[in-house]
Amino acid sequence: MIVLGIETSCDETAVALVRDGREILVNLVYSQTDLHARYGGVVPEAASRDHLRKLPVLVQEALTKARLSWNDVDLVGVTYGPGLIGPLLVGVSYAAGVALARDVPLVGVNHLAAHLFALRLMDPPVEPPFLGLIASGGHTLLVAVPRWGEYQVVGGTRDDAAGEALDKFGRLLGLPYPAGPKIDALASEGDPNAVPFPRPMLESGLDMSFSGLKTAAVYWLREHSTASLPDLCASFLEAVVEVLVEKALRAARRFRFERIAVAGGVAANRRLREVFPERASARGMLVFFPPPELCTDNAATVAACAFHRYHELGISDPLSLSPDANLPLHGWR
Ligand code: KG4
Ligand code: ZN
Repeated sequence: MIVLGIETSCDETAVALVRDGREILVNLVYSQTDLHARYGGVVPEAASRDHLRKLPVLVQEALTKARLSWNDVDLVGVTYGPGLIGPLLVGVSYAAGVALARDVPLVGVNHLAAHLFALRLMDPPVEPPFLGLIASGGHTLLVAVPRWGEYQVVGGTRDDAAGEALDKFGRLLGLPYPAGPKIDALASEGDPNAVPFPRPMLESGLDMSFSGLKTAAVYWLREHSTASLPDLCASFLEAVVEVLVEKALRAARRFRFERIAVAGGVAANRRLREVFPERASARGMLVFFPPPELCTDNAATVAACAFHRYHELGISDPLSLSPDANLPLHGWR
């Protein structure tokens, strides 16, 4: 079964073709960052228009690269939330059009569930049960995953997402949007102990707060002018990483998971990928990271999730599938 996956929930237009939910034939991501960089964040209407312009071109390119034709597509999977409503409408409308024209099933996918399906695209695949940590630009949550399709959100940020905190901190430093990858690179040259940024809410519970960390950074920058850019990046990143790692380990212990799966754009971060396995193994736990290109937004994970829903859960959606900007993960099948 060949699944066409489509992802347009934010500022990446992504198209993938995946065989039997596991074998990636082609995974194309067109990033709109240049379009939004001068505004310091995503402009929803501009994003929608650019998805509309780019999506059909990418689908054609994907078919050509995979040496497939429209006749080979058996199913279309599309992100229908959470995300920006305009961009979601573009992807869902296009996917419904494909399903109608080709007479194939349409399957709506939760963007956060799709992030977790990156684990299934690994070789060998990482399957539940596990404690999932999803850390991206829009979301940061801890989720108990006893089996695919069953998600219990057990903690997460009360305010900014981890990626959002990095992007906002980067903006303070004058780095272009999105700053996460740049902070990643700069931090590797810096001292993570140079600036004593706070670790908000570290000592208790499974909730996190990253906006307080950003505020602390604002005050610190106002009062000091001594630290180098690499030291600042390394220190701020260290605070974010420490909070993510500690909270995930605590959640895993509390809900009795021995395995932790990390997903979302921030999971591409090198410092997180370095620190987490060490801390986990010290506590007798295993942690898994998908390859970086499957951590950030892409459509191969959407196709893998759609395949699971259709093939293993027997779910498909009507052509009237309606996007939901606030689609929750909790309990979502
Ligand atoms: O999952 P994603 O691609 O899109 C959302 O669903 O939000 O995540 C994007 C976020 C951005 O905040 C970006 O700065 C961050 O992930 N990010 C990183 C890295 N790559 C992307 N943060 C730290 N280190 C990275 N290497
Ligand atoms: Zn995402």
